[in-house]
Amino acid sequence: MSRPTSAVFAYSSSLLVAVWALLAVLPQARAFTSYANEFVNPNYMLARKYPGNTGGAQFSILRWADQLAAEGPWTVIDKPVVPPSGDIHDYMSWSPYSWPNCAALGNTTELPLPEVWSTCPYYLRDGLFNPDVRMINNTGHFNAMADAVWMNALAWAMTGIPRYSINAANFINIWFLQNSTAMNPNLVYSQMRRGPGKGQLGAHTGELDLKCMAKVANAILILRNGQSPQWTPELDAGMVNWCNRFISWFTSYWIALEEAIAKNNHGSFYYTQLASHQMIAHDYQGARETIKTYFATIYMNQITATGEQPLEARRTRPYHYRAYNVIAMMTNARIGTYLGLDYWNHTSAQGAGIQKALDFAMTIPPTDDPLGHRQPAELYQPVAGVASQYGDPNGSYASFLANLDQRYPSAPYFLWCQPFSESGLVAARPGYSPSRDGAHAVRATVGYIFGTVAVLSALLW
Ligand SMILES: *[C@@H]1O[C@H](CO)[C@@H](O)[C@H](O)[C@H]1NC(C)=O
Ligand SMILES: *[C@@H]1O[C@H](CO)[C@@H](O)[C@H](O)[C@H]1NC(C)=O
Ligand SMILES: *[C@@H]1O[C@H](CO)[C@@H](O)[C@H](O)[C@H]1NC(C)=O
Ligand SMILES: *[C@@H]1O[C@H](CO)[C@@H](O)[C@H](O)[C@H]1NC(C)=O
Ligand SMILES: *[C@@H]1O[C@H](CO)[C@@H](O)[C@H](O)[C@H]1NC(C)=O
Repeated sequence: MSRPTSAVFAYSSSLLVAVWALLAVLPQARAFTSYANEFVNPNYMLARKYPGNTGGAQFSILRWADQLAAEGPWTVIDKPVVPPSGDIHDYMSWSPYSWPNCAALGNTTELPLPEVWSTCPYYLRDGLFNPDVRMINNTGHFNAMADAVWMNALAWAMTGIPRYSINAANFINIWFLQNSTAMNPNLVYSQMRRGPGKGQLGAHTGELDLKCMAKVANAILILRNGQSPQWTPELDAGMVNWCNRFISWFTSYWIALEEAIAKNNHGSFYYTQLASHQMIAHDYQGARETIKTYFATIYMNQITATGEQPLEARRTRPYHYRAYNVIAMMTNARIGTYLGLDYWNHTSAQGAGIQKALDFAMTIPPTDDPLGHRQPAELYQPVAGVASQYGDPNGSYASFLANLDQRYPSAPYFLWCQPFSESGLVAARPGYSPSRDGAHAVRATVGYIFGTVAVLSALLW
């Protein structure tokens, strides 16, 4: 082994260790958890009177606003398959739980994909994602766009820094309005079931694909109410027009009407979505009626006396679906609060409300999922939301979270799920930097020692 080679090796390895050490000491945002939905009162965000224990959450929001924005923009035309209409501007997705069964076709070699899609019968395996559906990723892109728009609007409300409102306005313009990239205001081809003789239209379950519109509506209300210079009258008028066209479709087309009467989370999110479009369209009275209708109808049969949600419990991923529908109910209640309605204590036909549904969901371990998805984080935001709404007199909600997630006070939701205790965790301190975490400090020190040894050995070789 010649000296130059080993020196190069030592230098490059010391460089790697140094980078590793640097990453350890730089502030890092916690992993971003994208919840199915959320609606933060725009007035709370714009008033900027956040409790002192939310420093970590504020820090996370700013970090995530920038990180999510760096991945954009997104557009509905970004897909390798043109919808049956021939118009790439139509939103399209495939049914996530549908799988092909080509056994009866008698082919002797592998079929080309388009042939699989059109000739193999598809059958449903509830809860099991067919990974090929994301080849058409309008769904993933819409969700990513909604998260980026939402986080950037929150960051703008907190700081007034134009970069954030520019991001939010730009992503909205590209997804919904700009002629070359805009989505048509319908979901005709959402969650299409493939297979012979089928696959020409979407399914009512596909209406769920736009549930994150609540995040977009939240962002627009923040920019609108906060009079952001980037939220121009042209953008506002464009979105009013887009939403009015969508609402006409959403309240008359048969696929959408099937979703409106779905009794489980699909129905809950239908109303979230409708109210969201109505608020963007300045139809606040219509949105109020929508929330009233949800709580007077579908909601009434979603929670039993014990707090169980039987329509979610019987799915293949009950842990996930209970949390999912609690989030839908809470988002509808939060939109209601913003519109002057109070459904937090409204009880179902069997006398239980949102708090009881959450309390029940908390008693089920995440491992109770036949398909093996274990995502306890799905319940974190609802737990904090319920605690802030109904109080946490004996600290049971705070200790539930502290046991599962030592860094929960630095999650974005901790900013608006207030008042709520930070359980004395360091992550809540204003100006929190994870470099003060023990683990990070150890990583940084080890990196420093190894880096020094590597440099010295390279010099002395
Ligand atoms: C027939 O095509 C399907 C889809 O490509 C494939 O899974 C299957 O293995 C093929 N059958 C044979 C015998 O090659
Ligand atoms: C779909 O889009 C999301 C958001 O951009 C991305 O995270 C994901 O990796 C994409 N999936 C595929 C299969 O490309
Ligand atoms: C965009 O499309 C709309 C409606 O299709 C049309 O009225 C408008 O003139 C177009 N704008 C541009 C810049 O092409
Ligand atoms: C809900 O009911 C409880 C007691 O029944 C009451 O203390 C609380 O203020 C009510 N909350 C709302 C939001 O009305
Ligand atoms: C603590 O409070 C929650 C509701 O906030 C209640 O469900 C629970 O029974 C209480 N636990 C104890 C031990 O008092």
